Amino acid sequence: MIIQKNISLKSFNTFGIDVCAKHFLSVNNIADLKKVLKSQIYPDKFILGGGSNMLLTKDIEKLVLHINLKGIEVISKTDTSVFVKANAGENWHEFVIWCIEQNFGGIENLSLIPGNVGTAPIQNIGAYGVELKDVFESCEALHIASGEIKTFTKEDCQFDYRNSVFKNELKGQYIILNVAFKLTTQNHTIKTSYGAISNELENQNITKPTIKDVSNAVIAIRSSKLPDPKEIGNSGSFFKNPIISVTQFEKLKHNFPDIPSYTISNELVKVPAGWLIEHAGFKGKTFGDYGVHKNQALVLVNYGNANGGDILNLSKLIQLTIKRIFDINLEAEVNIF
Ligand code: EPU
Repeated sequence: MIIQKNISLKSFNTFGIDVCAKHFLSVNNIADLKKVLKSQIYPDKFILGGGSNMLLTKDIEKLVLHINLKGIEVISKTDTSVFVKANAGENWHEFVIWCIEQNFGGIENLSLIPGNVGTAPIQNIGAYGVELKDVFESCEALHIASGEIKTFTKEDCQFDYRNSVFKNELKGQYIILNVAFKLTTQNHTIKTSYGAISNELENQNITKPTIKDVSNAVIAIRSSKLPDPKEIGNSGSFFKNPIISVTQFEKLKHNFPDIPSYTISNELVKVPAGWLIEHAGFKGKTFGDYGVHKNQALVLVNYGNANGGDILNLSKLIQLTIKRIFDINLEAEVNIF
């Protein structure tokens, strides 16, 4: 194990922020991971997965542990379903494509989401009508303080909209080592109810879509709306879609008749933050090397060498403006360091 010094993290975070890790170690096996966690030389560790849901605003003094555990394994298979286990360091989208090639269904709607398998449960990634929790079976995670490995069931993870126990009570306490998924091997449940997918399939004259067709449709939609982090640094949706009371929504609708919403319950509705940010005038605004994406106002972008602190300040300005205009609190979805 060689601990590297003064490593730029620019290529390790999809926002492309150039901060420095004073000490950096990429680990590709559990034995090394346990060993380094026990070491007293670097008491504080910073766990880095795919770097797709973070905004780095300063150099990192702690030992940066890059979780680079690779491997995909079929655990068991029946006529209709399969249990597949993927290690935390596998790239999420490559895993999705691998599953589609094996004709394993269930995660095709989650195509092209940046990041790694190990970080997917932390924020219960979701897109186009599917969330990770729909296919999640269990995950194994290493308790940082004791070095013990624990298996988490779906219930243990307390999944919610872009949320899990790993973002709350257990924040910073565990490193996810692998995730097991339950997928289908035939009679796949094709989910096209999310408007944009059915339109995309119609445009392509596909009436009986396969899981590959759904994946291709999602890839086409995402590519048209969301910037590719390899070209323009970003962390996907910067904010969560806020959930407000029906009473407040009715008042807002009076002033803003076009405001979209998704019903959550009799009392609550979710409002698209992208719509609020666009209607506050931020969509496509650039400030030097950073700004708000031109096709999706929920995405803040780094055009080159932006500083994480500047992007953080822009996010605060957006939050204040949304509060002033709509009286809604926008909560950041990305983790800020
Ligand atoms: N909208 C605007 N202006 C914008 C962006 C969106 O008016 O600039 C409106 C759209 O017209 C539409 C509504 O907002 O009526 C919803 O937009 P969209 O379908 O693009 O989805 P979203 O709610 O903005 C969420 C997720 C995305 C996910 C998509 C598709 C969150 C925070 N974001 O975005 O997830 O891909 O739905 O399922 O829930 C991510 O988490 O990083 C992410 C990209």
